[in-house]
Amino acid sequence: MAYSRSRLGKAADESTLMYTESISFDWRLYRHDIAGSIAHALMLAKQGIITSTEAETIIQGLKEIREEIEQGKFRFKSEYEDIHMNIESRLTEKIGETGGKLHTARSRNDQVALDPRLYTKETIRDTIKKIKELQLAIVTQAEVNKDAVIPGYTHLQPAQPVLFAHHLLAYFEMLQRDVERFNECFKRADVLPLGSGALAGVTYNIDREFVARELGLSQISRNSIDAVADRDFVIEYESAAALCHMHVSRMAEELIIWSTAEFSMIEIDEAYTTGSSIMPQKKNPDVAELARGKTGRVYGNLMAMLTVMKGLPLAYDRDIQEDKEGFFDTIDTLHATLDVFTGMVRTLKINVKAARDALSEGYILATDMADYLVKKGMPFRQAHQIIGRLVSYALERDKSFKEISLVEYKSYSPLFDDDVYNITIDSSIASRDVTGGTAYKQVKQAISTAKKTLGGSIAGK
Ligand code: ARG
Repeated sequence: MAYSRSRLGKAADESTLMYTESISFDWRLYRHDIAGSIAHALMLAKQGIITSTEAETIIQGLKEIREEIEQGKFRFKSEYEDIHMNIESRLTEKIGETGGKLHTARSRNDQVALDPRLYTKETIRDTIKKIKELQLAIVTQAEVNKDAVIPGYTHLQPAQPVLFAHHLLAYFEMLQRDVERFNECFKRADVLPLGSGALAGVTYNIDREFVARELGLSQISRNSIDAVADRDFVIEYESAAALCHMHVSRMAEELIIWSTAEFSMIEIDEAYTTGSSIMPQKKNPDVAELARGKTGRVYGNLMAMLTVMKGLPLAYDRDIQEDKEGFFDTIDTLHATLDVFTGMVRTLKINVKAARDALSEGYILATDMADYLVKKGMPFRQAHQIIGRLVSYALERDKSFKEISLVEYKSYSPLFDDDVYNITIDSSIASRDVTGGTAYKQVKQAISTAKKTLGGSIAGK
C-alpha cells in the first residue's frame, strides 16, 4: 500500500489508482525532481537537519535512480501515483530508512510546484532556439530573394506591390515578439517554491536562498500559499505558444494559397509535401496544413488550463495535476511545428515570373496614380475619386494603365503628363521609402537589423 495512505484503512480501488495517477505523464519531470531533491538534501545537511553522511547517501541513491531511469531500467508504478513518490519509494528501497529523511521540511505540494518551473525554464531555452532557427530561415530567404516583387494583399485582393522579402520579414517581427513573450515567461518561472511546504511554510530552520542558488533560480517565492497554488507560468507558456502557433499558422495559410496552381507564386520543396492515394498529379502541402491544423490543439490546451484553474480555492487542489498533459502536448506540438516549418521555409522557391505576372492584375498601381496627382497639387480625396473612375474606364475597355493614352488621361485631369508612364512596379516599391516601408533600401536595412537581432542573447544565457 502506498505510504501516503497511512491514515486510510484500506488500499485504493484499482479504478481510483488508474484515475488519479500522474506517473504515466509526469515521469518527464524526473531529472528536475531529482535535481530539486539533491539541492534540498544538501541544504538539510548544511542546516544540520540531517547529517552530511545521510545527505551523501541520499544524493548517491538519487543519482543511481537517475541512471536507472535513463537506461530504461526503472519500473514506474502507478500505485506510487507520481514521479515524486516513485523516486522516493525507490530511494527507500535502495538506501533504507534514511530515504525517508529526504522529505523533511518539504511537501509534495511545493515539490510539484518546483519541477515544472525547472522544466519550463529548460524548455523555453529550446523553444527560443527553435524560433530563432525559423527566423534565420526567413531572413535567409529574404536575402536570397531580395529583389523579388509580389502583389501585397488586403482582403486577399491585390493592393500594392511589395518586396517578397518585406512580406517575409513581417513574420520575422511576429516571431521576435514571441521570443520576447517566452523570455518574459522565463522570468516568472524562475522562482523557487520550495520552503512553502504544504501551504503555510515549514517549521525547520531551512535556507531557501541556498536551494535557489543550487538550482539556478534567481528568486524565491514570497508567499507560500501562492507558491503551491498557482500555475500561471504554465498558462503563460501555453499562451505564448498559442500566439506563436497562430503566427506560424498564418504563414502556413499563405504558403498553401501561394502554392496553388492559381497563384503558383511559390513552390514548396517536395520533401515537405505529400501525394494523393488516388490523384496522381497531386502535390499536397500537408506540412503547412497540419501546422495550421495543430494550432487548434495548442489553443485547446490553453483554454483547458485556464478553465481548470478558474474556480479553484487556495491552496493546492488535485485539479492542478491536470496542468501537465496539455502543457507537454503544447511543447511537443510547437517544437515539432517549428522544426518542420524551418526546413520547409529554408527550401522554399519563389516563382519570380509568376509573381511578376500577378502584379499586372488588379490595377495594383492605383494608389501610386492617386499619389501622383496629389504631388501635383490635388487633394487626396479628389485624386482617389478620379483614379477610381479611371480604373472602371480601363476595366470596361480591358486596358492596363500603360495602355491608356495621354489624351485619355488628360480627359480625367489636366494634371496628367508624360511622366505618368514613369509609374512602374519598381518606382512604386522604391517610393515607399519610410522606416518600415517596402523600399529596396529599407528592406535591405531591415534584413541587416534582423540578422543582428538573431545574434542577440537567448533567455537565461
Ligand atoms: N501528482 C500530483 C500533481 O501532479 C502531486 C501531488 C501533490 N500533492 C497532493 N497532496 N496530492 O499535482
